[in-house]
Amino acid sequence: MQNVILNNQLSMPQLGLGTMNVKNLPQLLPQAIDLGYRLIDTAANYDNEIEVGQGIKNSDIDRKDLFITSKLKIQSDGYLGTLKAFNDSLEKLDLDYLDLYLIHQPYGDVFGEWRALEKLYRDGKVKAIGVSNFAPFQLIDLTMHSTIKPMIDQIEIHPFFQEIPESNYALQNDIQPQSWAPFGESIQILSKLPTLKAIADNHQRTVPQVILRWLIQRNIVTIPSSSNLNHLEENFNIFDFYLTNQEMDTIKQLDTKKSTFIDHLTADGAEFLSKVN
Ligand SMILES: NC(=O)c1ccc[n+]([C@@H]2O[C@H](COP(=O)([O-])OP(=O)(O)OC[C@H]3O[C@@H](n4cnc5c(N)ncnc54)[C@H](OP(=O)(O)O)[C@@H]3O)[C@@H](O)[C@H]2O)c1
Repeated sequence: MQNVILNNQLSMPQLGLGTMNVKNLPQLLPQAIDLGYRLIDTAANYDNEIEVGQGIKNSDIDRKDLFITSKLKIQSDGYLGTLKAFNDSLEKLDLDYLDLYLIHQPYGDVFGEWRALEKLYRDGKVKAIGVSNFAPFQLIDLTMHSTIKPMIDQIEIHPFFQEIPESNYALQNDIQPQSWAPFGESIQILSKLPTLKAIADNHQRTVPQVILRWLIQRNIVTIPSSSNLNHLEENFNIFDFYLTNQEMDTIKQLDTKKSTFIDHLTADGAEFLSKVN
């Protein structure tokens, strides 16, 4: 496992486990932890914080050796609502602090929410704070009008939507980019692409491993999700091979520069996501 150092000097694993729609978390998480996973990503919106907490309890690892992320309830109601939502998440997870807490969507009273995250951080309830789905202009706006700069921006990044200018902006400004949906929820399509298959064959690896390796080599943190123990093991074993510059360039050609989910910058996207609970 490799770690990255966030702008507040906190060390964070570069690969973790996403838990959205993952089944049997109380049983699966201890197995993932045995494989070496330390970063676990959940959110109020995934409605699984209780199961994540049970999974952590079922493993015999020390809490301090894990890196637990959760995200603010999307309808969080500004400053006071954010403080309450954070406490609700802690209670459900049955933890007394989080390693990372994120604003889930860049809509609503973002500044009220950020002030609350700054307070939680200063009070020692969370070791790092950040945002998700923020475009560079939104990062600039937040950073220029706040005292603490976000440590993370978790955004959609995969071979079909590479977000190169966005991730470069974050890296250059000491905000760690993190990829959600590293397989774009299209692993069946990606696995059949001859270009990716050829790279995988060249290293005697699988296409999912090549995609995760490509993200690691771009200095991006990633959180693939899986309910399958074999896939968890496969996804974890990516720290002992290197893609060449030519292979990295080949993958670059797959970029469509379009979200395969919901474009956060369109009116439809903003309207839809602002209503999600
Ligand atoms: N911040 C946000 O707005 C946001 C949005 C979406 C997601 N996320 C986070 O990002 C995490 C990952 O995103 P995601 O779950 O949407 O997509 P993903 O990780 O790109 O894809 C998950 C899918 O890939 C399959 N898979 C995983 N490893 C595989 C392997 N080695 N071989 C074959 N199939 C494999 C899984 O099936 P199996 O279970 O069969 O392995 C699952 O269907 C989420 O869990 C969540 O924590 C954040």
